[in-house]
Amino acid sequence: MTIDETPRASGSGGESPGMGRSRATVRDLERYAQLFARRTEGMKSSAMRDLMAITARPEIISLAGGLPDTSTFPAEDIAELMARVARDASARALQYGPTDGMVALKTCIVEVMAEEGMSVGEDDLLVTTGGQQVIDLVCKTFIDPGDVIVAEGPTYPGAVPTFGAYQADVVQIEMDTDGMRIDLLEQTLERLECEGRTPKFIYTVPTFQNPAGVTMALERRRQLVRLAAQRELLILEDNPYGLLRYEGSSLPPLYALDGGEYVIYLGTFSKILSPGLRLGWTAAPRPVLEKLNLGKQGADLCSSTFGQHFVIEYFARRDWRDVLGKLRKLYRRRRDTMLEALAENLPREAEWTRPGGGLFIWATLPDYIDTTDLLARALREHVAFVPGRAAYLDGRGGSAMRLNFSGVDEDDLREGVARIGKVVSEQVRLYSTLTGTEPTRARRATPAESAAASARIVPLRRRAG
Ligand SMILES: Cc1ncc(COP(=O)(O)O)c(C=O)c1O
Repeated sequence: MTIDETPRASGSGGESPGMGRSRATVRDLERYAQLFARRTEGMKSSAMRDLMAITARPEIISLAGGLPDTSTFPAEDIAELMARVARDASARALQYGPTDGMVALKTCIVEVMAEEGMSVGEDDLLVTTGGQQVIDLVCKTFIDPGDVIVAEGPTYPGAVPTFGAYQADVVQIEMDTDGMRIDLLEQTLERLECEGRTPKFIYTVPTFQNPAGVTMALERRRQLVRLAAQRELLILEDNPYGLLRYEGSSLPPLYALDGGEYVIYLGTFSKILSPGLRLGWTAAPRPVLEKLNLGKQGADLCSSTFGQHFVIEYFARRDWRDVLGKLRKLYRRRRDTMLEALAENLPREAEWTRPGGGLFIWATLPDYIDTTDLLARALREHVAFVPGRAAYLDGRGGSAMRLNFSGVDEDDLREGVARIGKVVSEQVRLYSTLTGTEPTRARRATPAESAAASARIVPLRRRAG
């Protein structure tokens, strides 16, 4: 039960009589405040979770989520597979299962990881309740208050509240279009060493990063894995998007380069099948895996056995690579639509990344535009995005935004970006009026210009001047 759901004690505040449930009063909060553990001070709501309540409204075009389009997996198919599970395996599917997951599911995971060139045994795996649980379990296992985590800047907004809840000191390393800057990482590690501090782990989404959409170059992957081995540092490699590639050839995951020595790998069925299943996994060195397993026992005993049976059936009776192929085609089209719409609707000073896969584009607006404020205006125009600050723990990212292109169709993508373009133009005009500078017009791209824009890789950081 959350505070908001707590039944109100009589006479506890001036709400209308008969209200069984209402928001906590100051008195309620004071009463509980003395009881809350200190770690709750670090617990902050995720910007994306907050936005989800608003963006669920049908009139809002949401470019804020990270929602896959599950329409490529037809309802009749789901119904048939679920009926099969209910009919053939209900006794087991409705029962508790092993904490580390069902062996048959692990066989499917081995297949998925092999697709990206990773060789792993069933015993190296722990099935989890989504990839998100891996981040939580890794923090639970390694982080005491004040411990250092090194992450990319920007980082996955969903990891921000997890790091906060464990009171980690998160140091974020800048990226460019080749991913995390390893030279800056080395400098940071040196500095931390001088302060007598060693990071507990380096958290990275090397492929089609959420939120930046960039991919770590091969040479940087090698450098990172070498660095981790030299310094005996753990890496948490978060890889939900590696198989959602729209062009080019795939790069080896860090786990494949390192051979499972220092890399804890996170995978998930959320983006290649369905997030509603809440099934992910981790592959990790055995001593780490054992601790993660203990952490999971305390958290939820096991992940949904029904869901696991469903995935096993799906892998046995459908061609998961075929569904993946359809997803790739669909998302490639949507990515291209969004890139074109951005070129048509954002002012010249704006920049954005051009992801080769995944679900997100990271756009950076002129410095004087604060995207947290802009979101309030955008919502009035019935469009939503994730403000850049959600991807930082230190207040940076104020003029950036994360845009998702997988969750809505092409018409809504065009309309959504046009609405964002409108509120951005208003801000640009306002700034020009206040400063007496000439407003730059939104770029009206011809098809040829749009194609050229699509072919251009835009740096993650704004160029000087
Ligand atoms: C980078 C990254 N890690 C982890 C997750 C969590 O995914 P899930 O818990 O649905 O597997 C997400 C979801 O969007 C993500 O983008």
